[in-house]
Amino acid sequence: MTARDAGEDRPGGGRAGDDGEAAAAVAHAGAGNRRSRWEPLRKALLGARTLWAQVAARLGEPSDRPASGRTAMEEWRAVARRTFVTVGMFSACVNLLMLTLPIYLFQISDRVLTSRSTETLVMLSLLAIGLIVVLALLDTLRRQVLGRLATRMETILGGPVLASIVATAPVSDGGNVQPLRSLHQVRGFIASPTMLILFDAPMAPLYFAVVFLIHRDLGLIALGAGLALVAIAVVNQRATSARLAQAGRHASMADAQAEALARNAQVINAMGMLDSGVLQWGRDQARALSVQISALDRSFWISGVSRFLRLVAQIAILGWGAYLALDGYLTGGMMIAASIIAGRALQPLEGMIEGWRNLVHTRAAYQAVRACVEALHSEKPRLRLPRPQGRLTVDKLLYLPPGTKEPILNGVSFELQPGESLAIVGPSGSGKSTLARILVGCLFPTAGKVRLDSTELRNWDRNQFGEFTGYLPQEVELFPGSIKDNVCRMRGDLPDDQIYRAAMLAGVHDMICHLPAGYETVLERNGAPLSGGQKQRIALARTFFGEPSMVVLDEPNSNLDAAGEQALTEAMLRARRMGITIVVITQRPALLNIVDKVLILRGGRSEAFGPPREVLRRLLQPGPTQPVSQPAVAANAGASGPAAVPAE
Ligand SMILES: Nc1ncnc2c1ncn2[C@@H]1O[C@H](COP(=O)(O)OP(=O)(O)O)[C@@H](O)[C@H]1O
Ligand SMILES: [Mg+2]
Repeated sequence: MTARDAGEDRPGGGRAGDDGEAAAAVAHAGAGNRRSRWEPLRKALLGARTLWAQVAARLGEPSDRPASGRTAMEEWRAVARRTFVTVGMFSACVNLLMLTLPIYLFQISDRVLTSRSTETLVMLSLLAIGLIVVLALLDTLRRQVLGRLATRMETILGGPVLASIVATAPVSDGGNVQPLRSLHQVRGFIASPTMLILFDAPMAPLYFAVVFLIHRDLGLIALGAGLALVAIAVVNQRATSARLAQAGRHASMADAQAEALARNAQVINAMGMLDSGVLQWGRDQARALSVQISALDRSFWISGVSRFLRLVAQIAILGWGAYLALDGYLTGGMMIAASIIAGRALQPLEGMIEGWRNLVHTRAAYQAVRACVEALHSEKPRLRLPRPQGRLTVDKLLYLPPGTKEPILNGVSFELQPGESLAIVGPSGSGKSTLARILVGCLFPTAGKVRLDSTELRNWDRNQFGEFTGYLPQEVELFPGSIKDNVCRMRGDLPDDQIYRAAMLAGVHDMICHLPAGYETVLERNGAPLSGGQKQRIALARTFFGEPSMVVLDEPNSNLDAAGEQALTEAMLRARRMGITIVVITQRPALLNIVDKVLILRGGRSEAFGPPREVLRRLLQPGPTQPVSQPAVAANAGASGPAAVPAE
């Protein structure tokens, strides 16, 4: 335990420092003696530390109910509720104890100074110091408990947030880790002083009440100042929120720009786009900064006014109190105590004016985190199904990207028997990649159904479905890590021979063995030191890992040389023999020789589907019922030379 380790070190280190080096050298003989003299104190201190750490940990712990069956959000709420109640109680005590100083002052000036009793003074001082010790301990404890809550928030919600980001990422970009940043922000806020103000603020009425008890006039002054501060807080929020939101938007645009620059460093360096890229970023950043500074200026003015107001209120209370004291309504002690207590009552209000921005941001951040986590949990656990045979049924697919009216896929239907292979061909932008994403469940169709072995993709358990299928996206990206990690889909728990089998199936074993570190070659974020074609072939092995029932390959040969293409063809033949259902998207006709079916996609519609010979014949020799002869496909077939299926 770290607290105990630290405890073990501290007293020893502290003692040596206190004694000084010379003393330590001379009084060597006395060391044992001194050690024994200090030993009980050391032990007591250690015990207290351990106890303290246990109390703090215990207070920050969740209730003892079993966590099973509760979502992460529910667990977090339970922990937070419990901690907030604890911290609330501590804060109430701390705030009551804060009255020690004004009461002490009042007692001294009105009792000790008049009675001239040293005894009373000593007693009062001891009592006050005792109370202040308790106050300091409770205050530390509540801060520690909140600090632990912040850490627990990260441990409870961090995983679900990241999982949700990945699971719900739009296909077009690589996912947006903003909710994770929001989580960090909320965590920072929980451990911040503004959070404590939130707990102190509910006690402000108590202080106002005490001031009222001292004298009605002083209470009215304090209350008036309090109301003015609330009004200022509202004005502050009105005056700055729109600007700050605008600044936030510009800042996130600038961030996105910076990220894109960093991601595309090669392109930018090669084509000399650096200056204009940085300029573009600078424009957004400058806009963000200028709007922000104007909002901050206003905010600082408002803070200044509020501080001024609080001090004026305190002075007014002193002044009016002195006037009342002259008339004998008050004593000097009461006057000073009233001023201190009023200051205490107004402080959280003043703090809120500065902390307001933080609070508003954090609230938005928390809502983002909650939405993110809840999006994940709307998925119910699914029935675990046996390994599918690989029958793929696609029924009247319609896909409209959210917020558009133009369908990318429209009425696409086909069926593949287990072990059958399909090539999808068509010009760029015809919706091939979109169809591929729908076939592997990355995208859900707007209408229509995709079934693997009669179970609709939506109803498959995601993890299980992933184990039974393979997907090679058009834009291959490998994970930072070794080739081995990449091939085995980061599953460290599976035997190595599965990795070997996948590499053999994809025909990349030899290629990997020729790399300097073989399977242990560590890849960087951009896939270095592999070439584009090599990356594609490693990704092919990843696709075939675990001998899936169905694989979808999106232009797997786009970066391949002749040898790579040959390896791909052989891999597909091997997979076919193993009964794996294959869907391959290709622009090149070479693969058409080895598939059972061809689907021609044009403008999101299925133009032809069937065995390759039949489809190509129909396209090349349009009959009266087939008005659409497509020169592009015909050209494709013509250009394919000996590899193409001969048109009859
Ligand atoms: N997220 C999206 N939002 C809007 N349009 C999209 C989106 N993704 C793809 N598209 C459009 O869908 C069409 C098909 O894209 P895609 O499936 O990638 O074509 P292909 O792989 O056949 O070249 C393109 O015209 C593209 O502009
Ligand atoms: Mg594509």
